[in-house]
Amino acid sequence: MKIGTVGIVGSGLMGSGIGQVVATAGMRATVVDVNAEALTRAKQAIDRSLDRLVKKEVLTESDRQAALTRLTFSTALEDLAGSDLVIEAVTENLKTKHAIFTTLDTLLPRHVLLASNTSSFSVTELAAATGRPTQVLGLHFFNPVPVMALVEVVRTLLVNQEVLEAGVDFVHQLGKVPVQVRDGGGFVVNRLLIPFMMDAVRALEAGVASVGDLDRAMRLGAGHPMGPLTLLDLVGLDTAALAGEQLYTEFRDPRFAPPPLLNRLIAAGRLGRKTGQGFYRYGDGDPTPMEMGQ
Ligand SMILES: NC(=O)c1ccc[n+]([C@@H]2O[C@H](COP(=O)([O-])OP(=O)(O)OC[C@H]3O[C@@H](n4cnc5c(N)ncnc54)[C@H](O)[C@@H]3O)[C@@H](O)[C@H]2O)c1
Repeated sequence: MKIGTVGIVGSGLMGSGIGQVVATAGMRATVVDVNAEALTRAKQAIDRSLDRLVKKEVLTESDRQAALTRLTFSTALEDLAGSDLVIEAVTENLKTKHAIFTTLDTLLPRHVLLASNTSSFSVTELAAATGRPTQVLGLHFFNPVPVMALVEVVRTLLVNQEVLEAGVDFVHQLGKVPVQVRDGGGFVVNRLLIPFMMDAVRALEAGVASVGDLDRAMRLGAGHPMGPLTLLDLVGLDTAALAGEQLYTEFRDPRFAPPPLLNRLIAAGRLGRKTGQGFYRYGDGDPTPMEMGQ
């Protein structure tokens, strides 16, 4: 089960990053999105990221060029027919993911492996929606994909051992570190991280500290590389809330539930870095903490 050609569905924060690392690792990548503007943004994000890597001398100019020739973008799922593996990285919405998995299952030859990058849904459930449940696994990347070394390789109740091993080998091919996890809600990282981030928003709501001080406290007091509110801005407030909602539904533990302030920020269109505003405002200089209407 050697993987040389990879399809990626969804060209947002994660899909564009996955496309980039697949191409720089020497494999061919086709990134598909329903939204042509999202594809344009993905191309620009990949260009900027590769430029940075060349400037830092992590990548040579000829490696950059070669990676770009291995990358294609499309709005048609049919263009993924030649893939060995297709990774779904669309919006965290179960209906959308179900629809993608059933469509991919009809379109793609039997041998193609399917993976989901979902943060919170059951990969077993997505696998069961296809006619190839033994060939479906979870490959949970972290944001920003070109920087973060970990990939959680998710073992469903239905997957073949060989498929799981192919997933582990693929992660090694990307130069990343695989950790095998059971298909339990949130795997390892989000099971621990989502309640922590939601608690940080609740602490802010309760007036425990300001945005800047809350983050500073966790950086300097707990040794975290970034504070939880900065991390939420990086993840995307909408994405974190969708994952929290789903894990709350699964565990019925209120610590997973998105607090009112998070939902208000999302309603106001403040989704974090990707919209230029979240808990902080992002411009040319350092991010500045924003008013929370309290
Ligand atoms: N943001 C993170 O930190 C993070 C980390 C790990 C995993 N994830 C997971 O990765 C997935 C994507 O997250 P993201 O942050 O990249 O989201 P995003 O909002 O940045 O991008 C989602 C993309 O999916 C596209 N899309 C929606 N419906 C589609 C469809 N039917 N067909 C094709 N494309 C479609 C959208 O146009 C958009 O470009 C989610 O499942 C999320 O939980 C996110």
